[in-house]
Amino acid sequence: MEELIYLDNAATAWPKPQKVYEFMVEFYRSTGVNPGRSGFDKAIEAGNIFEDLRKRLTKFFGGDEDAPERLCYTYNATDALNLIIQGLASAGDHIVTTNVEHNSVIRPVNHMVRDHGAEATFVPFNGEGFVEPDEIRKAIKPNTKVVIVNHGSNVLGTIQPMKEIGRVCEEMEVLFVIDTSQTAGVIPIDMNEMKVDALAFTGHKAMMGCTGIGGLCVRKGVEIRQTRGGGTGVRSAYPYHLEEYPFRMEFGTPNMVGIAALWAGQDWIEEQGMENIRRHEMKLAIKLLNGFREIERVIIYGCDNMEEHLSTITINIEGMDAGDVGIMLDVDHNIATRTGLHCAPLVHRQIGTLEIHGGVRFSIGAFNTEEHIDTAIEAVREIAGSVKMK
Ligand code: ALA
Repeated sequence: MEELIYLDNAATAWPKPQKVYEFMVEFYRSTGVNPGRSGFDKAIEAGNIFEDLRKRLTKFFGGDEDAPERLCYTYNATDALNLIIQGLASAGDHIVTTNVEHNSVIRPVNHMVRDHGAEATFVPFNGEGFVEPDEIRKAIKPNTKVVIVNHGSNVLGTIQPMKEIGRVCEEMEVLFVIDTSQTAGVIPIDMNEMKVDALAFTGHKAMMGCTGIGGLCVRKGVEIRQTRGGGTGVRSAYPYHLEEYPFRMEFGTPNMVGIAALWAGQDWIEEQGMENIRRHEMKLAIKLLNGFREIERVIIYGCDNMEEHLSTITINIEGMDAGDVGIMLDVDHNIATRTGLHCAPLVHRQIGTLEIHGGVRFSIGAFNTEEHIDTAIEAVREIAGSVKMK
């Protein structure tokens, strides 16, 4: 079987750098004991990487470096966003969010509205796929508690103007939360500069860690109410969950292999340089886009401004169902893409693809090559050429 051409990096980056795989195994084999629960040397050693990574990631995200305990580990970005949303909003609060959100925000927000008496406004993006800071400003009301925005769309690939939105939030005195699932590891993020109060990230995409690890980072002075409880390894006689960070946001035995993977992922990103990773991905994305633009009947979404864009491109072929295109790419060309609604139904509703079963998403990663892109363009040309228009 010829090599799989993996163009589904927005779902998860794959493959991971070799050193990530190696470090995961090596670390778990040598130090895979429960951190923070026991006093023997190995448990302390396991705890050290945990705490060192907090410091490293706090710096990476431009958080409060004197408060690394405010970088807390979760299962993934969805988990972090649930903790943040449920822990910040209360009955009577208004939440402003956008149509570029993933279900990781849409669903918890809708639950706060339906089940807990909050209100929400979903701000549409403009014709190019960007959320306009002025639209956020207009949506803010006296009872608005928090604005939540997806840094990079997992469908359109557009990168939102976070600095400008952050400025609006600061001026209007509302909390600003960002979802960095698609951007962390490939786009520089600076919570201080972007005026971000809380950030959610996942470990298995451009952070080059593995699935099952993610986190949140909360600025000093912002308190997220805890909505879960469990073991922390300290003050075990206390009958409630601990208030202090990081315990406040962490529950039970953590994902040590995930921590090791994130650590090695950080090493790899530093060695490569985030700018170089991005340059490589965008070179390929622009090649793919230019190829698609030459093909009749290919409809491209949200690619007017490739400067503020990720290496994610969603298309449709006129007259064809997105799912069918995905199957042909897979079965006939060995190309992996993601079709459908990409857990982002509001994006598809706004671009008019909800009724036609979404789109075909090509998401390029650090390990894709020019040859992969050439093959993808030729495959789409062949599939588009086979369409019999009614
Ligand atoms: N959110 C991931 C995606 O867009 C899983 O595919």
